[in-house]
Amino acid sequence: MNEAPPRQLLVSPIKNGTVIDHITAGEALNVLKILGITGTTSERLSIATNVVSRDMRRKDIVKIENRELMTEEVDRIALIAPRATINIIREYRVVEKKGVEIPSVLIGVVRCPNPGCISNTDEPIESRFEVVEKGLRCYYCDNLITRDIARHII
Ligand code: CTP
Ligand code: ZN
Repeated sequence: MNEAPPRQLLVSPIKNGTVIDHITAGEALNVLKILGITGTTSERLSIATNVVSRDMRRKDIVKIENRELMTEEVDRIALIAPRATINIIREYRVVEKKGVEIPSVLIGVVRCPNPGCISNTDEPIESRFEVVEKGLRCYYCDNLITRDIARHII
């Protein structure tokens, strides 16, 4: 007899905080990296990877308790998770839900692959990339990052 497996709750609902849902499968850790959240920061995190989703085959989910992420910081993840939805949770209820938009400029997010770029010297200059059709273009040296953006995240 073929019985469907019981629906399992991988990670519990949270009381307050941010749920980043519909992350491209496999990108959850890169999402955290872009947000600057590491194992040594104090947020309580739940991460689920490769869960089956209704509208996508697989997805990742990240839950960050007691922190409401701002649009500007969250939009950066659109580079690697364009279908992500950001849910703000208060008292267990979703009070806000929005998608992510790829920002037009990225400052201090990716490192320029050109070692001679001024953003890689001792000068206190943060990396700056413009998002163009072909990828990311360095504002200082015109270097173009066309793929594997996650590998260049600072
Ligand atoms: N969630 C949570 N804690 C809560 C409420 C919701 O962790 N107290 C999570 C849900 O598990 C889900 C996401 O927040 O991953 C969005 O919740 P909800 O809008 O209720 O789910 P869906 O309707 O499935 O969302 P969507 O329509 O965006 O797929
Ligand atoms: Zn450069």
